[in-house]
Amino acid sequence: MSVLILVTGANGQLGKELQLQASEHPDFQFHFYGSSLLDLSSQFSIESIVSNTPFDYVINCGAYTQVDKAEDETNRAYEINGTALKYLSAACNNIGSTLIHISTDYVYDSINGRPIIETDPSNPKSTYAKSKLIGEEYIQQLCQKWIIIRTSWVYSSFGHNFVKTMLRLGNSRDKLSIVNDQIGTPTYVSDIAEVILNFVMKMENRDVMSSLHNEIYNFSNQGITSWDAFAKKIFDLSDIDCEVKGITSEEYGAKAPRPSWSVLSKEKIESTLGIEIREWESALRDCLDRLKSKS
Ligand SMILES: NC(=O)c1ccc[n+]([C@@H]2O[C@H](COP(=O)([O-])OP(=O)(O)OC[C@H]3O[C@@H](n4cnc5c(N)ncnc54)[C@H](OP(=O)(O)O)[C@@H]3O)[C@@H](O)[C@H]2O)c1
Repeated sequence: MSVLILVTGANGQLGKELQLQASEHPDFQFHFYGSSLLDLSSQFSIESIVSNTPFDYVINCGAYTQVDKAEDETNRAYEINGTALKYLSAACNNIGSTLIHISTDYVYDSINGRPIIETDPSNPKSTYAKSKLIGEEYIQQLCQKWIIIRTSWVYSSFGHNFVKTMLRLGNSRDKLSIVNDQIGTPTYVSDIAEVILNFVMKMENRDVMSSLHNEIYNFSNQGITSWDAFAKKIFDLSDIDCEVKGITSEEYGAKAPRPSWSVLSKEKIESTLGIEIREWESALRDCLDRLKSKS
């Protein structure tokens, strides 16, 4: 019998990547729902869709992700990233489904100097970060079977993201000012989608199922960089001649604060799944190749 999987936020970066990788899993029957079909800000929408089919897994890719705008649209961010998880957790319990939820490095306190582990304290600073932590808390309190994956600096060949913005701006400007005091690791969406489906495959192997559930896992690619060094690498690999000037977060002046240190320890997810995560530069090359082949 095939494994039934519901994916919310199906038209975002991660949702689209899962749509792409779905064909590699003929045993999985995916149901992709964009925001117009499953609205996470509506209890009715969540309950009616999730209770309609006995999904084995719900992969929650839907989120309010506009970090600066969330400072002005606080209620909306809390509804979609926070309250929705209360209803989604209850709906998953009703059908015996496992909820796989994607969260963010922004929930952590910035502890410079060593990779952040899952048990490190949280201290979300922005509305977006606070709303995501509330969502996580609802899941841990209410959901019977869940997995939370915290990730950072996600980019892809889809939608809007740092890599695509740099390619666009780098081709039209001689010089760009990019933040140099936020340190972290980029995550190629293809790699995190693979890891999510790896979890599903492992959970279908009933022997290990219970040891995977109800845990938080960090995921990003390996390595450490800053946004300005990330931009330089994008330009180098794409033969774009654009000078990068490093500036501080204060000089950049974004509305919402960002963590200065977002380097996640991936030891837990690597040992749990028995995988080796690749370096961010290698993943970036794949994304740039995919973008080139699309153009
Ligand atoms: N991008 C990053 O750098 C980053 C970093 C850390 C963690 N994350 C987390 O990773 C997950 C996936 O992120 P992503 O990069 O794929 O985000 P994304 O590209 O912005 O996609 C988010 C999706 O959520 C949908 N959405 C918004 N409001 C919704 C609603 N009311 N009901 C249902 N869906 C709704 C959006 O639909 P519409 O297009 O119709 O609005 C969009 O397709 C999110 O949980 C995010 O918080 C992302």
